Amino acid sequence: MSLPKDNKDSIPEPVKGLEGIVAADTNLSSVNGEKGILRYCGYNIDDLAFNTTFEETICLLYDNELPNQERLEEMTKKVGEARVLPDEVIRIITELVGKTSPMSTLRTVVSVLGHYEKNVPLKELPPKALRLVGQISTAVAIIHRLRKKLPIIEADPSKGHAEDFLRMLHGKEPTKIQVDALNLYLILLADHGFNASTFSARVTAGTLANLHSAITSAVGTLSGPLHGGANEKAMDMIIEVGTKKNASKYIQNAFDSKQKIMGFGHRVYKVDDARKPHLKKMAKKLWEEKNEMKLFEVAEEIEKQVKDRKPIITNVDFYSAPLLYGLDIPTDLFTPLFAMSRIAGWTAHVLEQYRNNRLIRPRARYVGQIDRTFRPIEQR
Ligand code: ACO
Repeated sequence: MSLPKDNKDSIPEPVKGLEGIVAADTNLSSVNGEKGILRYCGYNIDDLAFNTTFEETICLLYDNELPNQERLEEMTKKVGEARVLPDEVIRIITELVGKTSPMSTLRTVVSVLGHYEKNVPLKELPPKALRLVGQISTAVAIIHRLRKKLPIIEADPSKGHAEDFLRMLHGKEPTKIQVDALNLYLILLADHGFNASTFSARVTAGTLANLHSAITSAVGTLSGPLHGGANEKAMDMIIEVGTKKNASKYIQNAFDSKQKIMGFGHRVYKVDDARKPHLKKMAKKLWEEKNEMKLFEVAEEIEKQVKDRKPIITNVDFYSAPLLYGLDIPTDLFTPLFAMSRIAGWTAHVLEQYRNNRLIRPRARYVGQIDRTFRPIEQR
């Protein structure tokens, strides 16, 4: 880009999309995009995926340690007791459902929940953050129940988070495979380095704005189709393709018209997303339990057709879609479900930011005109 010679504001070439820029240190998660490895606090998610629960992941991200039995029970109880919303927040959800998307409602709910919290010193912040982890899941279930004109189901704090959410959402006890599938999903999406929504939470926290402001920023950022919104669009595509034989034509058309295919591509991964094989395996199990393999097979065929044409990696959102759909979760709740998991990472990152804060304030390179001649309004 050529700049005016005497542009005093000229600074180095910006890195578009901040690609490859390392903006901070973190103890929470690490992504090796070359090898396709994701670790939480040093533990490979391949070890955590099928062997732990979401509550254990929360402990890991908050304590930097996997819990012993006592700590896990304490965490399960705390998150369970947090699955309650103030009546006024339920009234606000009632006003909004049907008028906005579930994700917009959720963003408003997070913001409103901040009004019920006191400003507390940093050492008292983890319980406040944990409340939000519990509340977000209840809000998602209530958004769904109210729009379907179904009675709200109260939380049962004695149950695990995944199980209780499915019960609050669907009004019946989930099967063991369903609970395992949701646990797996919640574990795998809980944190992922400096992804866009986490970064936006940290930018907000970096100004020393409060926790709820930071998480409201994150929910808004997650909603976009290039980030958390991709799971919903991926499922829409799988449904639209409908049969294996339609996949080739659909994908060819998408490439011909230079459309981005949702659930593919990633800024960091150069090989398939570390979470993909686990999500795929679990989605398959779920659909096998239903004895209905058609949509899962369509998803596999779409993946094959994409890869036959271009070496694009499969990201977390692609097989999240048939997994969530296999849990009878409507597609417009997919991104709220993502938030229900990522809230663990977001809150842990906000705590980390506060503990070692420095205002996050990059620069922009000004490339417009300079030294323009000012003319009073009557002469313009
Ligand atoms: N479909 C088709 N082509 C793609 C896709 C895709 N999904 N993703 C990347 N490409 C191609 C681009 O066309 C480009 O090709 P070219 O070099 O021949 O022009 C190349 O791969 C690089 O793509 P960029 O868009 O420049 O990559 P960037 O790092 O900026 O974007 C992103 C990453 C936003 C994830 C992109 O891959 C995309 O839009 N994917 C679809 C949306 C999606 O699935 N988002 C979820 C990401 S994971 C998450 O946030 C939870």
